[in-house]
Amino acid sequence: MTAENFSSELDIGLWAVVALSLLLSIAAACLAAAAMRRGLLSSNPPVPEQLGYSTEMPKQILPEFEQNNRVADSPLASWTPEAMRLVIDKELPDAQIILVSNREPYIHNLRDGKIDLVVPASGLVSALEPVMRACAGTWIAHGGGTADRMVVDDDNRIRVPPDKPAYTLSRVWLSEEEQQGYYLGFANDGLWPLCHIVFTRPVFRESDWEQYKAVNQKFADRVCEEARRPDPIVLIQDYHLALLPRMVRQQLPDATIIMFWHIPWPNSEVFSICPWKEEILDGLLGSSIVGFHIQFHCNNFIESIDRFLESRIEREHSAITFGGQTTLVHPYPISIDWPPSVLESQPPVAECRAKIFETLGLPEDMRLLVGVERMDYTKGIIDRFLALEQLFERHPEWIGKLVFLQIAAPSRGTLPAYGQLHRECLDFVEDFNRRFGNEGYAPIVLMDEHHNQGDIYTVYRAADVCVVSSLHDGMNLVAKEFVAARDDEQGVLILSTFAGASRELLDALIVNPYDPTAMGETIYRAVSMPEQEQAARMMRMREVVSSNNVYRWAGTILQDAARIRKRSRVVDPVPDTKPERPLARTMAQMFGRRRHPTMHRTG
Ligand code: F6P
Repeated sequence: MTAENFSSELDIGLWAVVALSLLLSIAAACLAAAAMRRGLLSSNPPVPEQLGYSTEMPKQILPEFEQNNRVADSPLASWTPEAMRLVIDKELPDAQIILVSNREPYIHNLRDGKIDLVVPASGLVSALEPVMRACAGTWIAHGGGTADRMVVDDDNRIRVPPDKPAYTLSRVWLSEEEQQGYYLGFANDGLWPLCHIVFTRPVFRESDWEQYKAVNQKFADRVCEEARRPDPIVLIQDYHLALLPRMVRQQLPDATIIMFWHIPWPNSEVFSICPWKEEILDGLLGSSIVGFHIQFHCNNFIESIDRFLESRIEREHSAITFGGQTTLVHPYPISIDWPPSVLESQPPVAECRAKIFETLGLPEDMRLLVGVERMDYTKGIIDRFLALEQLFERHPEWIGKLVFLQIAAPSRGTLPAYGQLHRECLDFVEDFNRRFGNEGYAPIVLMDEHHNQGDIYTVYRAADVCVVSSLHDGMNLVAKEFVAARDDEQGVLILSTFAGASRELLDALIVNPYDPTAMGETIYRAVSMPEQEQAARMMRMREVVSSNNVYRWAGTILQDAARIRKRSRVVDPVPDTKPERPLARTMAQMFGRRRHPTMHRTG
């Protein structure tokens, strides 16, 4: 063999090796992607950095795997209120949109003889409010304010927002007993801990379940009263209303019903704890689409159906056929308004910082870390304080140089688990400040009160670091709000791997909140991060949130709804009058499927 031959054979050999290894990597990536979509690979921990892996490579390829494919397929490059309205006008002409949630977007309270307007501290409300403004529909919700009844008309309606009415709020009234059994009892003492696996035992009481069913029926009846057509688009929100899709379907069989579950869905073993699991699943399968934030929760839901209901599951299409009706199960990662309208009234970052530092009495060079949430045991509030403790023990030079401002709006306070958390937090902070603080320095400032959105954005803009350490969370919009607030491209986000947002915000510092030592080290890294790195990370996160905004979330859901409607109309045209309810209910119950079109007209 000549030297020339040898070298050319070597070249060929080398090329073959390179080509083979390339092919193998592509195949491995494809297999991993497929496995991830089927939920075979855990998309949660371990956190790569803790295992000593570089995160650079996955950052580039992960979005391909994790992001909602249909979002990427969307023909609209940028989603705005106008783009969403265009979808409604073009794809859903004459559609009536009815949104249903437990929590109302505006609460009227009586305070000192005057009517006070409150916007609740709710991710659901902050995401859906801009959508409703854009699509001018009807929002049905529980009227829980002390002055709510005083401001509605005879049909229990009020136009909102009060300063610039854009849609109708239709209030449903609940008695103390209903509120106790349905909201505090079944929804928040049962389903909430069941779905958030944070080792708080769910409590299921027969009496709560009875109230839950009755209240769901009350909401269903209101939907039918508000429906002006036989086929409204009904957007049902969250775990308070799991039975509503079936109840609405029975009265309005031609409605397009979309159920969005804002919290995680547990694996089928955990779900099996619920004594009324079959009823809950049956209720949800009254929907045309059931949506979750991430694919992982869709997979858990489908597994639960597989295990507890006799149905046909087409995994390829994420479709479940049960009782003659098909329900699609899809991920729709919820988001926020972009740019958030609340930013319009915010002063520049330097002013926000000066204002908050003055309020807290902090010197200019102090580092400010913030946490913002409801006082809830799923949020990992004490866990982040434990991480701070670790930081101070391992890096004592930081004592006196940083302050953690924790805003925790009171929530569900009459439930024992919430009362206990509140007390534990107060005790922890008192003890912590005694140990690490002094007369002029309190390392943790706990504000356990409600703040308006404007004030919260000022705090975000003033902070060096925002910590979201949820033990489990469907999405977590605080993480996205912090990113949206930082138009100066500064600030570091520390984000729990157990929050849905960690699938999108890959440039946050991702943590396992159950590991205080590692989280303490991450806080150390955050407070020491150079401005340039902060800017690079923040810029990338802002790109993600700006394009995956709430109009994309809602627009994608509405596009899917439009597709379903078009398809079903080809098969089964909808009559132009509202069907009589008793017949609608009986036929659907008897046959468990859509009625024959001619029957509508005789009904
Ligand atoms: O996370 C689920 C959720 O319904 C959110 O959408 C909302 O932010 C939060 O719970 C509010 O809870 P509540 O209405 O009980 O105050």
